[in-house]
Amino acid sequence: MVPNPPKKTRIWTIFFTQLIIIVVTIIAVILMANQSFKSFYIDRTTNELRSVAQLISHSTQLESHSFGRLRITIIAPNGVVTFDSAEFLENMENHLHRPEVQSAINGQEGIQTRYSDTLKETMLYLTAPVYQDGTLAKIVRVSVPITDIHKVLNRFYFNLSIGGLLIVILSGSVTFFMSRRMIDALQRRHENEVLVSKLKKLEKMRKEFVGNVSHELRTPITLIKGFIETLQDGASENPADSKKFLGIIHTHSERLTGIIDDLLTLSKIEMEEDNTTLELIEVKLKPVLARAIQICTPKASEKNVSLHLTCSADLKIRMAPPLIEQAVVNLIDNAIKFSPKNSTVSCIVAQEKSITIEVKDTGAGIESEHLPRLFQRFYRVDNARSRNQGGTGLGLAIVKHIAQAHGGSVRVKSTVGLGSSFFIELPLQRI
Ligand SMILES: Nc1ncnc2c1ncn2[C@@H]1O[C@H](COP(=O)(O)OP(=O)(O)O)[C@@H](O)[C@H]1O
Ligand SMILES: [Mg+2]
Repeated sequence: MVPNPPKKTRIWTIFFTQLIIIVVTIIAVILMANQSFKSFYIDRTTNELRSVAQLISHSTQLESHSFGRLRITIIAPNGVVTFDSAEFLENMENHLHRPEVQSAINGQEGIQTRYSDTLKETMLYLTAPVYQDGTLAKIVRVSVPITDIHKVLNRFYFNLSIGGLLIVILSGSVTFFMSRRMIDALQRRHENEVLVSKLKKLEKMRKEFVGNVSHELRTPITLIKGFIETLQDGASENPADSKKFLGIIHTHSERLTGIIDDLLTLSKIEMEEDNTTLELIEVKLKPVLARAIQICTPKASEKNVSLHLTCSADLKIRMAPPLIEQAVVNLIDNAIKFSPKNSTVSCIVAQEKSITIEVKDTGAGIESEHLPRLFQRFYRVDNARSRNQGGTGLGLAIVKHIAQAHGGSVRVKSTVGLGSSFFIELPLQRI
C-alpha cells in the first residue's frame, strides 16, 4: 500500500493553514482600514475647520454666535487670548508658544492634534493668520474634539474583531469537517483502488494458474489416451508393444498423480499459511534433515552422487517436521537431478540471527534471468528436460510456501557452470 501520512496530522495542517490565512487577512484589513479611516476623518475635519476659520476671520461679533462642538479662539500676535468660546479669558494663559500659533505667526496654516487640559479631550486645532494692511492682526484658531473618531474606530475594531472571530470559528469548523470528509473520502478511494488492483492481480493469477494446471494435466492425459487407443487398435496383440505402451501409460499416470499430489500439498500449505493453523513443535533439526537425505539416497546412488549433511546435533527449532523434511527433499531432489555424475550435494545448516538450511550442488547452474521466477508454480528453466526427469514444476513453489508458513523465506544463488545453492531461512523464534 502507498504510505499515507497520519490522518490527524493532515487535518490539523489544513486547519491551521486556513486559520493563519484568515487571521492574517483580518489583521491586514484592520491596519488598512485604520489608516484610511483616520486620514479620511482628519482630512474632512480639517477642511471644515478651515472653512470656519475663513468665515470667522472676517466676523467681529463672535460672542453672539453659538458654535456647538467647535471651539473658537482668537489670539493677538503677542500670544494673548482675546476671545475663547469655551473658557473665561482670565483663565487662559499666553498661547504664543503653542506650535499651531507659531505656524500662524510664520504666515502658515497650523494644524495640531493635542490633548487639551482645559477641555480634557484630544483636540484637532487649526490656526489661520489674519492680516490687516499687510501686518498680522490676529490669529484665528478653530478646534474640535476628535475623541469621536476614536470612539467610532474602536467600535469598528470591536465589531471587526467579533466578526473576524466568528469567521475564524465558522470557516475553521467548516474547513475542519470538510477536510476530514475529503481526507476520509480520499483514503477510502485509495483503499478501494488498492483492493481492486489486488483483486485484479489475484484474478489474473487464478486464471493463469487454471490455465497452467489444465496445460500440465492435458499432456499426460492426451498421451495416455493415445496409447490406450493404439492398444485398442490392435497393438495389444503384440506382447512387446503391449508391455512398452503400458509402461508409458504407467509413467504418465504417475506424472498425473505427482502433479495432483503436489497441487494438493500446495493448497494445504497455503491454507495453513493463511489461517496460521500450522502446528509447530520444537524438535531437533538434524534428524529431520537426515531423513530427507535418506529419502533421496536411492536416486543419488543412481548417479553416484554423495550426499553430505552439516548440522549441529542439538540445534532445535519450532517447525512442522514433515513439511521441513519435504522442502529439503525437494531441494536435494533438484540438486541431484542437475548434478553431474560422481559429484557431491551438501546440506549445510548455519545459525546466526536466523537459521539457514542450504542445499548446494556443483551442477550446471541457472542463468540469472530465470532466478526471479524460479519459485513460481510450473516455472521451469528447460521445460522438456524437466518433464522428462519427472518434474512437476511445483517443487520450488512448495519449498517457498513451506518456508513462508514457518515465517521464513527462500533464496537462490547460482553461477552458470559452477553450481547452485538454495537457501531456506527460518526465524529462530517464530513471532
Ligand atoms: N539445483 C538446480 N540446478 C539447476 N536448476 C534447478 C535446480 N533446482 C531447480 N532448478 C530449475 O528450477 C526449475 C523448477 O524447479 P522445481 O520447482 O523443483 O520443478 P521441477 O523440479 O519439477 O522441474 C527446474 O525445472 C529447473 O529448471
Ligand atoms: Mg523439483
